[in-house]
Amino acid sequence: MSVTVVIGAQWGDEAKGKFVDLLSQQAELTARFNGGDNAGYTVVNPHGTFKLRLTPNGFANPATTCVIGPGVVVNLGTLLSELEMIQQAGISLDERLWVSPRCHVVMPYHPRVEAIYERAKGKASTGTTGRGMGPVYADKVSYNGIRLADLFDEGVFASKLRIQLELKNALLRAYNEEALDFLTVYEEKLAQFARLRHVVREPFGLLQQALQRGAEIVLEGAQGALLDNDWGTYPFCTASTTLAGGAAAGLGIAPRRIDRVVGVAKAYTTRVGAGPMPTELLDETGEVIRRAGAEFGTVTGRPRRCGWFDAGLVHFTAALNGCTQIALTKLDVLDGLPRLKIGVGYRPQDGEIAHYWQGDARWLEGCQPEYIELQGWEQPTSSVRHWQDLPRLAQAYVRKVEELVGTPVGWVSVGPGRDATITVPSL
Ligand code: IMP
Repeated sequence: MSVTVVIGAQWGDEAKGKFVDLLSQQAELTARFNGGDNAGYTVVNPHGTFKLRLTPNGFANPATTCVIGPGVVVNLGTLLSELEMIQQAGISLDERLWVSPRCHVVMPYHPRVEAIYERAKGKASTGTTGRGMGPVYADKVSYNGIRLADLFDEGVFASKLRIQLELKNALLRAYNEEALDFLTVYEEKLAQFARLRHVVREPFGLLQQALQRGAEIVLEGAQGALLDNDWGTYPFCTASTTLAGGAAAGLGIAPRRIDRVVGVAKAYTTRVGAGPMPTELLDETGEVIRRAGAEFGTVTGRPRRCGWFDAGLVHFTAALNGCTQIALTKLDVLDGLPRLKIGVGYRPQDGEIAHYWQGDARWLEGCQPEYIELQGWEQPTSSVRHWQDLPRLAQAYVRKVEELVGTPVGWVSVGPGRDATITVPSL
């Protein structure tokens, strides 16, 4: 029995949902530890296809307890609609869901404040998902947040909300925007909370007991390591900690309890929003990948930027997260390409080959990637289920990734379903 953390090893959208689903088949408990409804994952299981943002991935398994830890920020409206969708699919989650009262609440002013920031930055804007993540986490660390715990006491909530509306409305008015009305926000949030309060309960004891029992636990990271607020391409990053280490703080689990870290990476690279992406393809090949991979954002529907696999970056994120295995997803998207490139490092404007971690986002923007080139397999792989049936050139591609990233590739995924997964034999 073990504790597994699943994280994104690139810029998010690596198809982590599929791997959390797969790895949590036997899990007693699955938990989210960061981000909010800026995340979006699709899971295809025998109950149907679910597009979710907040609910932990173990929801479909009646034996799995689902936890939303204090590192997550909660949009009550999103959570309510997900629970409704799950209920409509005939799955009962109420008894199995624990949402930490320590979670901060996304308030209606957070996306509004974010929109003002984004507009003010103009061309330098981050290109956020518009879910208010920056402002809600900023309120959290500046002691201005409203937590789920506050909503249990109407008086406490009212007084905190009044102060925050005074501050936020001043900003909205300064930018000629309509101010938010206290009573409207107050009543809306209390009404939403009333429908959720039975699942808002402290999960610390439950988690500790599960750890002591040696239960199978899967901790799911949202976004990707390169969007981490400290180690990502700041300020083109997200507001939370997206690293495996974030699972400890974001759930209250000691780091030494974590046995395995699975880094999920696409067989190529994608990114949504602004910021450097050295291996981006702005040509027809990028289009081919976007179409074949259906690369459009789950939350915003924006087309994702597509490019070659950047081994230098994933080597870095594998080290940063202590990945024990890589899950390489969407290999089938490369099926039609006659030649493939893999980024192996950067040449900055001033010379020597360098690593991602040596500079900031502006420096990375000016770097040219160095590539190696491989022959494509040009055969369909989406129905392959065993390593030995994968074309030899596809095997060579996977082995090259493994070598360059310096971490074993444990699985290759060739489609969205659970079964479209190939276990890779260790070398
Ligand atoms: P925010 O998290 O909405 O503040 O957006 C900050 C940056 O992170 C933007 O570039 C977003 O496109 C990106 N981002 C946030 N969540 C995700 C995700 O789940 N997948 C991919 N990119 C994301």
